[in-house]
Amino acid sequence: MNRRNFIQLLGAGTGITMFGSSIVGCSSEPSAELYGWAGPESTLDDIRLKVLSYAILAPNPHNKQPWIVKLTGPLSFELYVDPERLLPETDPHYRQIHIGHGTFLEIASIAASGLGYQADIEYFPQSQYGNMELQNKPVARVELVKTANVQVDPLFNQLLNRRSNKRDYDQIALTISEQQELQQFNQQTSDATLVFKSSPQDQKQLSQWLTQAMKIETGNRARDHETIAMFRFNDEEVKKHRDGFGLAQSGMSGIKKMVAETFFLSREKTENDPTDFGNQAVDMTQSQAHSTATFALLITTDNQRIDQLKIGRDYCRINLKTAAMGLAQHPMSQILQEYEDMLPLQKTFKQHYGIAESDTVQMLFRLGRAQPTKHSARRLVSSIVQA
Ligand SMILES: Cc1cc2nc3c(=O)[nH]c(=O)nc-3n(C[C@H](O)[C@H](O)[C@H](O)COP(=O)(O)O)c2cc1C
Repeated sequence: MNRRNFIQLLGAGTGITMFGSSIVGCSSEPSAELYGWAGPESTLDDIRLKVLSYAILAPNPHNKQPWIVKLTGPLSFELYVDPERLLPETDPHYRQIHIGHGTFLEIASIAASGLGYQADIEYFPQSQYGNMELQNKPVARVELVKTANVQVDPLFNQLLNRRSNKRDYDQIALTISEQQELQQFNQQTSDATLVFKSSPQDQKQLSQWLTQAMKIETGNRARDHETIAMFRFNDEEVKKHRDGFGLAQSGMSGIKKMVAETFFLSREKTENDPTDFGNQAVDMTQSQAHSTATFALLITTDNQRIDQLKIGRDYCRINLKTAAMGLAQHPMSQILQEYEDMLPLQKTFKQHYGIAESDTVQMLFRLGRAQPTKHSARRLVSSIVQA
C-alpha cells in the first residue's frame, strides 16, 4: 500500500489526500509556542523591536521570512532583502520576495499606530534597482515618530489573527455586499485593480488552470526541491527552523498529523524521489480550488520594485480586512510565476480575462469560509536584526 492510499484510508475512505482538510484530527492542539509562533515578543521594550516583532508575522512567500533589518537610529531602521532567503526557481525575478517586504512594512506601520507611533516609510532611499536584479540597498527606511492622539489603524486588532488558510473552503461564494465592502476598502488606499471571479464558469476554469499550474510547477526537480526545503516534515523541524510550512497550515492536527508525520512523511525519501510529494501538491491544489467559489486578482499596470512593495501592502490590508470579516484567504501563486515553463499557461489565463499583456497579476487568492488553521512558525526578531 503506498503512502497516498494509506492516508486515504485514514480519511475513512472519503477519497481525500494526505494534505486534505477533511482529515483534521480530534486530539488536543499543540501550543502556539511549539510552532515557534509566540506572537509579538512581550519582553522587548525597545519600540523598534516591538514593532518588528509584529512585522515578522507578515505573510510572505513559502514563509521564507526574507528580511534583514538594520537599526539606524533610536527610532529608525532600514529593511533589506536577505539574499540567503530567496526562491530563485519559482520566483526568479524576486517579485514575490519584494511583495513580502511590502507586507512587512504594512504590518510595521499598523503595529506602530497601535503602539502610539506613526511609521514614516521612505521606499528605496538609495534608489530603486531593476526588476531582474537584487542590489544590496535598503528597500525602505522607517522612522517611528511618537505622535499624540495617533489614529490606531482598526486592522491592528487583526495582526495576531490573520493567517493564510490553506484548508478546503465551503464552496459558497462571497456575497455581493462582501465583495463590495472589500472593493471599497481596497480603493481607499490602493491604486491596484481588485477583481473578483465568482461565477460557476470562473470556478471551473480557474480550478482547472490552478491545478494545471501546480502540475507544471512540480514537474521539475529544482522547483520541487525548493519547496521541499521549506516544507516542515515534523515538529522538530518547525522548532529548529521556525520558518516554512507543514501539514498544520492545511488544517491537519492531532493524531492524524502525528501518524502522517511519523510513518509516512520522510525528508530523506522525499528528497530522493519527490514524485509522491508533487502528486500530493497537485491533488491538494485541485481540492482547494474545487472547494472555493470566489477567487480574487490584484492587478497593476506598473511592475517596478516600488509597485511590488505597494501591492504587498495592499494585499496585506485585504488579508487583515478579510480576517476581520471572518473570511478565510489563501494565495495561489503558481500561475503567476515568471519561469519559462509557466508562461504559456499564464498567457492563456490573462488573455481569457482580457488582462493586458503589459499588466501584472501580482496576487491571485481564494476567499471563503473555513475553520482557522495553526499559525505558521516565525523566527525571533533577533535573527533578522543587524545592529
Ligand atoms: C507573495 C506571496 C505569495 C504566496 N503564494 C502562496 C502560494 O502560492 N501558495 C500558498 O499556499 N501560500 C502562498 N502564500 C502564503 C504564504 O505561504 C504564507 O504567507 C506564509 O506561509 C506565512 O503564513 P501566514 O500567512 O499564515 O502567516 C504567499 C504569500 C505571499 C506574500
